[in-house]
Amino acid sequence: MLLRNKKNHTEMDVKLLFILTLLGIFCCGRAQQEWNECIKANVLSCGECIQLGVTCGWCTDTEFLKQGEPTSARCDELESLKKRGCAVPKIENPRGSQKILKNKNVTNRKKGAEKLKPEDITQIQPQKLTLSLRSGEPQTINLKFKRTEDYPIDLYYLMDLSYSMKDNLENVKNLGTSLMREMSKITSDFRIGFGTFVEETVMPIVGTTPAKLLNPCTGDQNCTSLFSYKNVLKLTSNGQQFNTLIGQQQISGNLDPPEGGFDAIMQVAVCGEHIGWRNVTRLLVFSTDAGFHFAGDGKLDGIVIPNDGKCHLKDNMYTMSHYYDYPSIAHLVQKLSENNIQTVFAVTEEIQSVYKELKKLIPKSAVSTLSANSSNVINLIIDAYNSLSSEVILENSKLPEGVDITYQSHCKNGMINVGENGRKCSSISIGDEVSFSINITAQGCPKQGKSETIKIKPLGFTEEVEIKLSFICECECHQYGIKNSELCHNGNGTFECGTCRCNEGRIGRQCACQMDEVFSEDLDMNCRMDNGIDICSNNGECVCGKCECRKRDNPEERYSGKYCECDNFNCDRSNNKLCGGHGRCECRVCICDASYTGSACDCSLDTRTCLATNKQICNGRGICECGVCRCTDPKFQGPTCEICPTCPGVCTEHKECVQCRAFGTGEKKDTCDEECNFFNLTKVKDRDKLPQPVQAFPLMHCKERDANDCWFYYTYAVNNNGEKEVHVVEKLECPTGLDIIPILGLL
Ligand SMILES: *[C@@H]1O[C@H](CO)[C@@H](O)[C@H](O)[C@H]1NC(C)=O
Ligand SMILES: *[C@@H]1O[C@H](CO)[C@@H](O)[C@H](O)[C@H]1NC(C)=O
Ligand SMILES: *[C@@H]1O[C@H](CO)[C@@H](O)[C@H](O)[C@H]1NC(C)=O
Ligand SMILES: *[C@@H]1O[C@H](CO)[C@@H](O)[C@H](O)[C@H]1NC(C)=O
Ligand SMILES: *[C@@H]1O[C@H](CO)[C@@H](O)[C@H](O)[C@H]1NC(C)=O
Ligand SMILES: *[C@@H]1O[C@H](CO)[C@@H](O)[C@H](O)[C@H]1NC(C)=O
Ligand SMILES: *[C@@H]1O[C@H](CO)[C@@H](O)[C@H](O)[C@H]1NC(C)=O
Repeated sequence: MLLRNKKNHTEMDVKLLFILTLLGIFCCGRAQQEWNECIKANVLSCGECIQLGVTCGWCTDTEFLKQGEPTSARCDELESLKKRGCAVPKIENPRGSQKILKNKNVTNRKKGAEKLKPEDITQIQPQKLTLSLRSGEPQTINLKFKRTEDYPIDLYYLMDLSYSMKDNLENVKNLGTSLMREMSKITSDFRIGFGTFVEETVMPIVGTTPAKLLNPCTGDQNCTSLFSYKNVLKLTSNGQQFNTLIGQQQISGNLDPPEGGFDAIMQVAVCGEHIGWRNVTRLLVFSTDAGFHFAGDGKLDGIVIPNDGKCHLKDNMYTMSHYYDYPSIAHLVQKLSENNIQTVFAVTEEIQSVYKELKKLIPKSAVSTLSANSSNVINLIIDAYNSLSSEVILENSKLPEGVDITYQSHCKNGMINVGENGRKCSSISIGDEVSFSINITAQGCPKQGKSETIKIKPLGFTEEVEIKLSFICECECHQYGIKNSELCHNGNGTFECGTCRCNEGRIGRQCACQMDEVFSEDLDMNCRMDNGIDICSNNGECVCGKCECRKRDNPEERYSGKYCECDNFNCDRSNNKLCGGHGRCECRVCICDASYTGSACDCSLDTRTCLATNKQICNGRGICECGVCRCTDPKFQGPTCEICPTCPGVCTEHKECVQCRAFGTGEKKDTCDEECNFFNLTKVKDRDKLPQPVQAFPLMHCKERDANDCWFYYTYAVNNNGEKEVHVVEKLECPTGLDIIPILGLL
């Protein structure tokens, strides 16, 4: 019993120590690095593991897991895996990479050098690359941008033809040739085009009575008949033609001051073929003296169909103004940017503020003040062009979900520009080179690992960088997996990366379990009693979330219980018998037979053994405990508390037996053998050698006289075993002659 308790203690101590150690590791791990992102219970494969974070690795060593550790324990922080004994070559830890596929140098060319076709000019480098992204690990790419000298420019002049612009029309009639002359200082490859717009042909913005439609102008002016947008001159390098055609334009009238210029901008942006845009710098100069209409305004006229952002030019006229609403600003921004068009709003003084607000919403746009007679239009265009092209802003296409991008610009003079989120450099002159470092990071494995292409381009430029993103969703060891491996329960899984990856519908370390029969992803959780550490109390195996208890060599001995926490052989013993032989062992506790009790069933409830000859229990001097008398009167001893070694009369009672055993004399000398063998006799030399009384051993000193008046001394005791012991002094003490004389004298 004592032994068992001790064993229990040690077991508990070890467990406690283990728990404390775990807690210790946990606490200190936390203190150092906040938390371990790599530890998740439901991670069952290397692929899932490496997606948890860039610090995570997977140990493929088949021997790595300790008894009871779940599959997910293969996934851990790299350092931690090493500490736990996984050799570095067995740790899967794929890394991202990048490869540049197209890396044409940026064009380096001086003015006056040989003319290049637009498609042979490169301003951004590299042009095409692939990135392989590991979850959480940024890939950094460096983009170089260089403004090339003598870069071709296409300029489209979009002009408000409403009545109030009459003076301006007069003043731009020589615009073509003048602009050609001025632009030739900037580029040797310049083309110019021209279009006009008025209000949409719908009431109430424009008078729609037949007379007004024919000639909306009042008084004596000649006005052109109504249209919304007209592409008058496709982009051309012939400045003279521009002059001629602009000269033929006539002013139209409009009852409602704000113009429907947004329809025109939209068509200019999306009708690339009609306009003749090349893949070069594209400038749109929008000149007006009025405000603008945008989406929603059209509803006044019953137009509710949103603008579709498509080209609807027929005979170079916009045909759908009565059908579609004006485009929204956001829609315009998108289309302008898609088509790399930079817009210059050349507007009169009174409406500057309105267009300045609009400029804020449209990237790569500028607002300039058009003098009342448009005389400053050339300077305005050149200034706007310079300002627009001295600024580079990078823009990327839509990113796949879970992918992040960050920019950092390295502008002129090594200036790091973090404004505009690092996407922008300003004040770049022709020939300047700037660069951007761009980090692209994926979280997890977007789109099930299908690769995606994104594009980055400088706003307003036609060149772009194409980046193919692929995602690392699997470990290298995955490809060496053995399908339907025997190691995975009759081929119900693939053995890869040191463990089984179960087929559909199977689960468990060896895929032995049917998914629909178990409840938790973490099967072992069901096998830990009170969420402890030991699986099946270390007495069995966790199979499909249920404990299967170990068998014993002795078939009589069995483990049992939901967690194999019970057995039928670890009970208290008494007399070297399990449960004293008087009960059965159930879950480490004795269940005693009816007449027994006690932790080892070592206590009999039967009082018969305590019954004395007088039919009293323990002679009335004690309590019957577990079939044995415990004497309450300390003077008494014996199985029924019948003996009192120190009671008066003991000496006389045993006098004759001691006499005959020790000296062969006395009244019982003939019957000594029969009557007096109930004690053990020991002879001692003299009285000093007699035992002395000790507490646990009551002892009576006796002095008796025999027939010859000789004294003899002895002790009487009952030892712990109930054996009666007598020690006797072997020499009699007889009276001397001197002693007798006085007595005789008395006679
Ligand atoms: C590209 O430029 C680098 C230096 O900037 C130069 O070493 C290399 O030769 C150039 N490549 C080509 C094809 O011109
Ligand atoms: C208006 O134009 C028509 C033909 O285009 C012309 O015959 C007429 O004289 C012009 N009227 C004025 C006032 O200019
Ligand atoms: C301009 O570039 C785009 C895409 O890069 C291409 O589809 C288009 O055909 C090019 N246009 C011209 C006129 O070269
Ligand atoms: C335009 O107007 C300005 C004053 O606003 C004047 O100085 C200039 O001569 C005019 N130009 C033309 C061509 O009428
Ligand atoms: C890109 O990532 C690296 C490494 O994490 C970091 O040092 C750098 O500052 C990042 N750059 C940007 C532009 O976010
Ligand atoms: C999966 O295991 C079951 C039950 O052990 C077995 O009957 C079956 O054949 C195994 N499936 C495969 C594909 O081997
Ligand atoms: C005497 O002592 C012996 C050995 O110590 C023991 O076996 C025996 O039972 C004793 N006899 C009596 C009568 O107590």
